Amino acid sequence: MSGLSGATALPGQSPIGSAAARYLRACRRLPVDTTPVWFMRQAGRALPEYRAMRHRVSLEAAIADPALAAEITLLPVTRLGVDAAIVFADITTPLPGLGIRVQLVDGVGPVVEAPVRSAADLDRLAPAIDPGAFEPTAAAVRLVRDASPVPVIGFAGAPFTLACYLVEGAGARTEFPNLRRLMRREPATVERLLDRLADLAVGALRAQVEAGAAAVQLFDSWVGGLSPADYRRFVRPPMRRLLDGLGDLGVPVTVFGIGTAGLLGEIAATGGDVIGLDWRVDLGDGWQRVGEGRAVQGNLDPWLLLGPWPEIEAATRAILAAAGGRPGHIFNLGHGVHPETDPDVLRRLVDLVHEAGSRGAEPPNRTPKRT
Ligand code: CP3
Repeated sequence: MSGLSGATALPGQSPIGSAAARYLRACRRLPVDTTPVWFMRQAGRALPEYRAMRHRVSLEAAIADPALAAEITLLPVTRLGVDAAIVFADITTPLPGLGIRVQLVDGVGPVVEAPVRSAADLDRLAPAIDPGAFEPTAAAVRLVRDASPVPVIGFAGAPFTLACYLVEGAGARTEFPNLRRLMRREPATVERLLDRLADLAVGALRAQVEAGAAAVQLFDSWVGGLSPADYRRFVRPPMRRLLDGLGDLGVPVTVFGIGTAGLLGEIAATGGDVIGLDWRVDLGDGWQRVGEGRAVQGNLDPWLLLGPWPEIEAATRAILAAAGGRPGHIFNLGHGVHPETDPDVLRRLVDLVHEAGSRGAEPPNRTPKRT
């Protein structure tokens, strides 16, 4: 059962919900007591406790150890006061479920042992997905669910972004020449690969939700490199397959990518409950492109956090003003927390969002202000 304390009202008990419910309520565009906030990559690199742990344990070993992964997941909840926990794992974690070996190399990122660059390479993947690959992360979710005062977000890499790593093999970031060549010369192979990755993500996310994740996020970090025509041709079908595979779970789904300003209408038309906005688009403008019927998440420039507080505060207030009190805004950065970020600044930002955030009704019993 959930470890939510008795002090927190369940959604629906109050017209604006409680602190513990504000993230999920905002995903559903319900009124909230104040704007919920969490940060992509909140569990990792910027936290000194995390870095100290990483001197002793490899990233793979930390992800494979449910107790340690749960502990890391909870670090930002206690230290930063965020309104959601995101399970500690990586978008590459489920890949062994397709028989793909991948290493997370310090300073480089994921390195795939045998890149998939042809139909023959694709045929060498496991014919059936091994659900054992999802178990350590599901076990971590179970532990977090029992200990966390806030909802747990499960996540997976979206098919296109995972394909960037799989086809390039190493160092994929923005260009993906091998994937782009394959898209032009062997589109059917790419389509088949993306379908397999959609099925992998469905398996991984179903395991996380069954373990207690109350929402999920799909990281399609590199989708912004595509034209709208390629988005429709290559990305929409596997994303629909993925979203259909989660439909019966009833958990809100966030779809996030960077550099997506020109694709927001297409992305929203594909599906998902919450659309992530990066910092290159004004929140009001982005929300208009997404459409009023959908929640949005974002979108403070993560690089601003390396600068003076007054600029951070002004930009945060501008985002909240652009949201304008409409239900369905979840505050976040426009991409992940940079490792150089001072956790005390993140903490101060959480407090500012809670203080200045929009309220759906008159102020509830405010949580005591943290100092
Ligand atoms: O930081 C967290 O909140 C922990 C959970 C988490 C990790 N990866 C662990 C990790 C999450 C949410 C991810 C998602 C992820 N992984 C994405 C999507 C988000 C995004 O940034 O766009 C992507 C593209 C990856 C692939 C990946 N993993 C890269 C490119 C790298 C190397 C560069 C980097 O970000 O540091 C990784 C390694 C990785 N995964 C780290 C962490 C905490 C790096 C730190 C370490 O080695 O301990």
